[in-house]
Amino acid sequence: MPGLLLRTLRGENLSERPIWLMRQAGRYLPEYRALRADKGSFLALVYDSDAAAEITLQPIRRFGFDGAILFSDILIVPHAMGQDLQFLEGEGPSLSPRLIDASLESLSAVPERLTPIYETVAKVKAGLGSGRTLLGFAGSPWTVATYMVAGKGSRDQHETRALAYRDPAGFQAIIDAITGVTIDYLAGQIAAGAEAVQLFDSWAGSLAPAEFERWVIAPNAAIVASLHKRFPELPVIGFPKGAGEKLPAYAGETCVDAVGLDETIDPAWAARALPEGLPVQGNLDPLLLLSGGTELERQALHILDCLAGRPHVFNLGHGIGQHTPVEHVEQLLAVIRGWRG
Ligand code: CP3
Repeated sequence: MPGLLLRTLRGENLSERPIWLMRQAGRYLPEYRALRADKGSFLALVYDSDAAAEITLQPIRRFGFDGAILFSDILIVPHAMGQDLQFLEGEGPSLSPRLIDASLESLSAVPERLTPIYETVAKVKAGLGSGRTLLGFAGSPWTVATYMVAGKGSRDQHETRALAYRDPAGFQAIIDAITGVTIDYLAGQIAAGAEAVQLFDSWAGSLAPAEFERWVIAPNAAIVASLHKRFPELPVIGFPKGAGEKLPAYAGETCVDAVGLDETIDPAWAARALPEGLPVQGNLDPLLLLSGGTELERQALHILDCLAGRPHVFNLGHGIGQHTPVEHVEQLLAVIRGWRG
């Protein structure tokens, strides 16, 4: 019997709401910090499939979330496409050569870098109890491209946006290459046992409307179409962070099976504006989970009530912060588990 999360993503409006949290495995958990100290680096953890499977399962054991999300990173795709990847302490990711200086053709692909990720998926699947759903993921081509072009994270993605205006054909080739690898990568995760997948588009909000159509909607629509053809039953969650009023167009044109809402979206608006019956996921502000208290409970209940009319997966509006107390996660879980639609 599929669990609450998979049933909700397939369109059932259940009176009990499933919950998982973006970045639920990570630095706010003491058991993660211990394993990370032992293995030395984030990337060493990701490429050690035993360690990565263990980390994926840590928050499930502790909190009993309805979904386990593969422990990995969206930047494994550029690594497999041939860029060097490092996570610098306190600075975030660094990729080289940057596509602002180097051509796509100068990269030589290293597809073996994806193999340990599939092994992690298979190991998690074997260790996950019934009734819980295993989520795979990838970054969306636009967000991944912003890192590949600039070689690092950036506040407003201006180098990549400027490149896309200056050389749309060249940038299209980058997006197409990422799209192709992403389809194969997600298909590999599904073959290894992922039961749903999420496309993280963290920087979707920086694009003007026509560019949003071309660089966010079009490649995501291509990924969804290809996955639906190969795996008709498998739900795809799209999370275009910052998309705001472009969400209805995103949902309608990409044909994702569920839409992730960030914390800037009014859930009452989303309930009205998105296609009827479309499952949604979100959207508590991660800072409320950090601060806790009665405001956390009040706003979590408000989100649940606003979205009662359609299938809803409870989640945050973005990843959990590293200083979040675990007691606040327990407090949130009690609220979600006590609610009935
Ligand atoms: O949600 C999950 O628990 C699954 C694992 C996951 C990670 N990153 C683990 C991680 C997922 C889904 C991601 C996605 C990701 N990675 C995104 C999209 C979502 C978002 O947060 O906007 C982006 C933009 C990245 C790129 C990335 N990875 C950055 C910018 C950083 C450094 C910033 C930071 O928080 O340290 C990472 C590192 C990273 N990815 C960590 C984790 C747990 C921290 C690793 C550590 O230092 O131990």
